[in-house]
Amino acid sequence: MDPTTRANRIAWEHASQKHVREYAQLLAEAAEGSSLLDVERQLLRDVLDTSPRVVHLQSGHGLDDSALIQAGAASVVGVDYSEVAVTAAQRRADELGVSCRYVLAALPGAPLRAGCADLVYTGKGALIWMPDLLTWAQDAARLLRPHGHLFVYEGHPAVSLWSWDEDAPRIRADRSYFSRTVTNDTFPGGGAVEWQWTVGEVVNAVVAADMTVLHLAEYPEPFWRPGGVSAAAWDGRLPNAFSLLAIKHSER
Ligand SMILES: C[S@@+](CC[C@H](N)C(=O)[O-])C[C@H]1O[C@@H](n2cnc3c(N)ncnc32)[C@H](O)[C@@H]1O
Repeated sequence: MDPTTRANRIAWEHASQKHVREYAQLLAEAAEGSSLLDVERQLLRDVLDTSPRVVHLQSGHGLDDSALIQAGAASVVGVDYSEVAVTAAQRRADELGVSCRYVLAALPGAPLRAGCADLVYTGKGALIWMPDLLTWAQDAARLLRPHGHLFVYEGHPAVSLWSWDEDAPRIRADRSYFSRTVTNDTFPGGGAVEWQWTVGEVVNAVVAADMTVLHLAEYPEPFWRPGGVSAAAWDGRLPNAFSLLAIKHSER
């Protein structure tokens, strides 16, 4: 594991205590199964109609996993390197009696067998923690059976540029779309270092891993709004999220 990922893991282990402190509230939200966004439900409708076996890379608190089950998935295996997150997510899933299993592992390099997934699901603050996007895409492709799907709903890479000014959107003077890294100043904090991947780099990594992009879209809505802030950058004029659906074509 590279030193940045090792340090980030410590920050995530600490930050994931939030999932334990807010256990009851998250359990209620998981029971509702409402965490999947409408656009995710639309894009995944056909895939979820086939009762897919899902692998969720960087599964975090796992709310999307019970939502995926309620939306039609046969099973979900979540993979995350935070023992706190994985333990809390497993406890919630067991309490709800949903078919979700959690595996503690650093990614890329999920310790799951090749071809075990009909759908690899990830995002909502995931790709920025991957030190090597090509290896990430190859790992996702390895997990997929032929003709399986990769789905990403993710913060737009331009998000790190936007100030949180409420009067007007502004570009932060300390940020660049093309920087390789940026220090996280929200969650998990703790000096964690994010990697920045452009939309082009994400698409090229997926294509290089022998997948075909079926859909790519950008959205003005952020997937996450830190409490109490109403930034003008989120008022509908700027990209704040993107989705990508890809299909694996051949045996690898
Ligand atoms: C912002 S959370 C998003 C998680 C999930 N998609 C959600 O909505 O809750 C990012 C997660 O990625 C995990 N993570 C970060 N880097 C990782 C790595 N290299 N390997 C495995 N998990 C990682 C963290 O522990 C954290 O749970």
